[in-house]
Order: sequence, then structure tokens, then C-alpha cells
Amino acid sequence: MDAYEALLSRRSIRRFTAEDVSEEHERLLVEAAFAAPSSMNARPWHFVVVRDDARRARLSGLHRWSGLLGRAPLVVAVLGRADAVAWVEDCAAATENLLTAATALGLGACWVGIYENGPAPHPDEVACLETLGATPERWRALCLVGVGHPAEQKPPRTQFQPTKLSFELVGRHRRPPAG
Ligand SMILES: Cc1cc2nc3c(=O)[nH]c(=O)nc-3n(C[C@H](O)[C@H](O)[C@H](O)COP(=O)(O)O)c2cc1C
Repeated sequence: MDAYEALLSRRSIRRFTAEDVSEEHERLLVEAAFAAPSSMNARPWHFVVVRDDARRARLSGLHRWSGLLGRAPLVVAVLGRADAVAWVEDCAAATENLLTAATALGLGACWVGIYENGPAPHPDEVACLETLGATPERWRALCLVGVGHPAEQKPPRTQFQPTKLSFELVGRHRRPPAG
């Protein structure tokens, strides 16, 4: 599968078979995340690989949309250094790399959002960090990625929307005539 095909084939997979994710695949996923672009190449991220049943169960109970983490054999937490200027952007780029790599490897994965923009870390984020042995003074949690072998299939698609594409000026949806 080439990179473009992987980008379009990536879908949120929330059902997994009983098969474990190999350590080789785990390493490839994490290395793809580390390869992401980063503002000033600061790379303020930290990835926590979670396989322990009890810890995954705690993470799966964080909020109403995190249940899939209890079914995924592997969870990767994407944390950012709290003092970094662009930790959200950098961690989001790393997360997308991880998701695309999972697709390319034939795995299924889903982003579970933890971070919410606000004056202080959301209580769910604090609980997430505590579960991972970290504190919000030093670390922030962008998301948790559940990974496993897919037990559901979803078709590739672009979701292209012409009304969200402009040429030269916002709202000019037709390409100007050549010349
Ligand atoms: C910032 C963000 C947070 C998300 N949080 C969750 C979540 O908590 N639980 C979940 O099941 N999916 C979550 N998703 C996945 C989206 O629901 C999913 O990407 C969207 O419905 C489009 O479907 P697709 O990923 O198959 O293209 C999140 C995605 C993003 C980008």
C-alpha cells in the first residue's frame, strides 16, 4: 500500500479481533509517530505504550467515547510537554502518522480525544495522566490511540467537499481560467 492509499484507507476502527499486536508492529507504529513534523523540531512528545488490562480498562472508562480502548490490545498515549508552545500541533501530527502507519500495516486504530481547549486541563485529562503516572504540571495528554487487528471493515474515501475549497480567494470555488 502506498502512502496516498494509506491516507484514504485510514478509518476509525473500534472493533478488534483477539489477535495481539506484535512488538515489531508496535515499534513501527511508534517510529512513524516519531517521524512527524514538529515546530522548531522541538519534538515535545512522549508516547506511552499500554498493554496492561487493568490500565486499559481505566483508560477506557475516562469518558463516553473511550470504551474502545478496553477492546484494543494496544493503546498508545500521546503526551506533550506542558511547557512547549506547539505541543498540540506536534502531537496531532504524530498521532496522524501513527494512524496512517497502522493502516499501512493492516492494523485498525482509533483516535480517542483527551485534550480539550480550556484555561486548565479537563478533569478527564488529569485522570488520564494520573493513570499513566504523569502530572499535568509536566505533561499534557492529547489523545489515546487504540490499536488492534480490525474486526470491522470500512471503505476508503476522501470526503472531498467542493464548498470547502477555494481558488485564490475564500469563497471562489471555481478555478480561474488559465492564462
Ligand atoms: C480530535 C479527535 C478526537 C476524537 N475522539 C474520538 C473518541 O473519543 N472516540 C472515538 O471513538 N472516536 C474519536 N475520534 C474519531 C472520529 O470520530 C473519526 O475520526 C470521525 O468520525 C471520522 O471517521 P474516520 O476516522 O473513520 O474517517 C476522534 C477524532 C479526532 C480527530
